[in-house]
Amino acid sequence: MQLTLFGTGYVGLVTGACFAAAGNDVTCVDINTERIAQLQAGECPIYEPRLKETMNANQRAGRLIFTTDEKAAIDSAEIMFICVGTPPNEDGSSDLTAVEAVARSIGRYLDHPAVVVNKSTVPVGTGDRVEAIIRRGIEERGLSFEVEVVSNPEFLKEGAAIQDFQKPDRIIIGTDSVSAIEVMRELYAPFNRNHNRLMVMDRRSSEFTKYAANAMLATKISFMNEMANIAERIGVDIESVRIGIGSDPRIGYSFIYAGAGYGGSCFPKDVQSVEREAHRAGYDAELLRAVNNVNERQKSLLFQKISAYFGHQLQGCSIAVWGLAFKPNTDDMREAPSRVLMEALWEAGARVVAFDPAAMQEAARLYPEQIATGQLVLAPDAEAALVGANALAICTEWREFQMPDYGFIAEHLSHDVIFDGRNILDRNRAAKEGLTYIGIGLGDSAWQK
Ligand SMILES: NC(=O)c1ccc[n+]([C@@H]2O[C@H](COP(=O)([O-])OP(=O)(O)OC[C@H]3O[C@@H](n4cnc5c(N)ncnc54)[C@H](O)[C@@H]3O)[C@@H](O)[C@H]2O)c1
Repeated sequence: MQLTLFGTGYVGLVTGACFAAAGNDVTCVDINTERIAQLQAGECPIYEPRLKETMNANQRAGRLIFTTDEKAAIDSAEIMFICVGTPPNEDGSSDLTAVEAVARSIGRYLDHPAVVVNKSTVPVGTGDRVEAIIRRGIEERGLSFEVEVVSNPEFLKEGAAIQDFQKPDRIIIGTDSVSAIEVMRELYAPFNRNHNRLMVMDRRSSEFTKYAANAMLATKISFMNEMANIAERIGVDIESVRIGIGSDPRIGYSFIYAGAGYGGSCFPKDVQSVEREAHRAGYDAELLRAVNNVNERQKSLLFQKISAYFGHQLQGCSIAVWGLAFKPNTDDMREAPSRVLMEALWEAGARVVAFDPAAMQEAARLYPEQIATGQLVLAPDAEAALVGANALAICTEWREFQMPDYGFIAEHLSHDVIFDGRNILDRNRAAKEGLTYIGIGLGDSAWQK
């Protein structure tokens, strides 16, 4: 099939590369000329396991091309995917500027029947708006033909995006059109062989399903963080509690880790977007507001612990930070807890020596001033970050941080203290080396005194 995708971010690139790998002819369009030039040269602008290899193989085979030429990309398309960003507005609602801009381009240039698929995460009713914009554009040119607008939310997880796309838990198709369902079924057939994962529903329900899924996962995390905060005040170990409750299949082990809060480009904005949508519909979504508030508070917890430990005197301190990405296996630092910690440390007069296995370039892009002033030093590896530091703070649960050389840590930290924002280290091993270990919800509220 001839596919055109708008947006070459995490969703657009993964979708484009995977559909090309299944034998389709894929054209990816972006308005970011620099990014398109990079992609045309075979470079991958984001870190995502197996993405570059998949992309490059299909570029070489001529099945995956990148362009800024919207008209040519629309002229050749049977199916068009909208994969552009939907960032939050100031009030938490979704900014649909990019989605609507793509709809206008399609309305301006499309001259043949096509299916338009919305993969961006969008508020309920956006499919209706996109359809109206496209139809108006076509009518204004005196043309008339069928265009089906389908909702097909994306559930990939950054860090495992290719695998998720190729083996999805579900493929949600939101449309009432029988012909569009058939087109989508055919397109997804290579990813749907093992058992049927295709779920067809109306467009509005499909749009809301994506928000409900993210809101549910964010709620699990905030719930566990709330339990952790209670636990550490009453002498309870949240890690034991996690194992105890996870064994109940109604609860399950996933997404019940206490930590320094959730980040990323999806959970924070999606939870707020549904809350705003509910508000507009006259409903007070108290639970979602609480999920967001608990998370905001949680993201400042590591700093509070560090500040309290140092008697609120951080001027001149040097803190080693392991992990900058919002989660492992990605370089994405959008809304990452590490940023809240680093910014609070700088505000308090401390400097940060940081290491992340994938996000160093992104950190350099985000904080050039802090690098120039020496407030942020990017270390070549995790151990180098420790040299000369007062303490270590862990923000991301990268696997390579999980079995460190505790002796080396003890030897190099001047204050022999670790603040583990993901509870990934071995407390007993740390204690044996004389290190003070402060995690999240581990029954020890001594840091508060
Ligand atoms: N990142 C994820 O893990 C994830 C997962 C599921 C769903 N989503 C949703 O998918 C959407 C895209 O997310 P992302 O993380 O890939 O975004 P992103 O910010 O990484 O990429 C968006 C891309 O769209 C491009 N763009 C903007 N306007 C354009 C236009 N008019 N025409 C062509 N390209 C344009 C931008 O230049 C950018 O390259 C969002 O709605 C997001 O909520 C993201």
